[in-house]
Amino acid sequence: MDDLKAKYLEQIAGAADEAALEAIRVAAVGKKGEVSLQMRQLGKMTPEERQVAGPALNALKDEINAALTAKKAGLADAALDERLKAEWLDVTLPVRAGRQGTIHPVSQVTEEVTAIFAEMGFSVAQGPRIDTDWYNFDALNIPSHHPARAEMDTFYMHRDAGDNRPPHVLRTHTSPVQIRSMEAMGAPLRIICPGGVYRADYDQTHTPMFHQVEGLAVDRDISMANLKWVLEEFFAAYFEVEGVKTRFRASHFPFTEPSAEVDIQCTWVDGQLKVGEGDGWMEVLGSGMVHPKVLAAGGIDPDEWQGFAFGMGIDRIAMLKYGIPDLRAFFESDLRWLRHYGFSALDVPTLRGGLSR
Ligand code: PHE
Repeated sequence: MDDLKAKYLEQIAGAADEAALEAIRVAAVGKKGEVSLQMRQLGKMTPEERQVAGPALNALKDEINAALTAKKAGLADAALDERLKAEWLDVTLPVRAGRQGTIHPVSQVTEEVTAIFAEMGFSVAQGPRIDTDWYNFDALNIPSHHPARAEMDTFYMHRDAGDNRPPHVLRTHTSPVQIRSMEAMGAPLRIICPGGVYRADYDQTHTPMFHQVEGLAVDRDISMANLKWVLEEFFAAYFEVEGVKTRFRASHFPFTEPSAEVDIQCTWVDGQLKVGEGDGWMEVLGSGMVHPKVLAAGGIDPDEWQGFAFGMGIDRIAMLKYGIPDLRAFFESDLRWLRHYGFSALDVPTLRGGLSR
């Protein structure tokens, strides 16, 4: 027995890998292994012999098994050490000059917008890009067969015959997040929701996917005056000019009453657009006082609370601020365009640190 023990412990110590260990296990304590065969001899022994040999064999088997387990763990540790050595990476190495990636203007502007509204007490809400037609339309006071549904050029998700889940759409605007936020948070409430939206449309100023930022403030005694102040404050901070003039034009959205489209003052100087100067106007958003039916759909009592809401095109205000002429280029992933219009990854926009530089 001592010979067996010495032989197998030595073999285990010298095993190079798991396969070798397994071969040793089979040879020693496997069904037909040497130790197992010895155990089978116990039956032929006298009871006295058995009383000595039995426990000794069991102890030998335990010892071999323990050695196998320990060696297996040791081999795994060694393999991990090897791997860590091979995959070592010096993260303090400087990036290769001129080959950094850049932040896309849409991401940059989203960060800028978020920084400005955060300062005014708005938090960031999110909703799904594939939503039910209830959230995208009905809850926003756009019933089926309302002409606004057709105007939106909606992408409907495919449904098999007999599928009776509610119809889903690619959201046509960020306004469904108004409803989701009211449901989740109740009143009072102050959120913005930046994100992608979809409409079947494609030309120099329209792409089938684009970005909006929704704004919603619900409280007691909210009026159009609050909306106007918030937006003017926003434009001054965003375009980094004092006192951008705004023009509120009466408009219509089913989910706001009254509704207004908002233009900002601008002018063209040598083919460059200047915001906050001259006597031209550029439309940048839709807005209004949240319709009582919309508050009710979000579970908020319209007799007690009012709110304003707006929806602004992120790509549009990015084009205006950074002088980008064609919307389609935003989504073509042309590296030359990205290097030209992209932003440094390490400059995080903040109001105090500077938004765009
Ligand atoms: N959802 C509207 C659109 O996409 C914009 C809007 C949002 C208007 C909120 C009013 C209030 O055109």
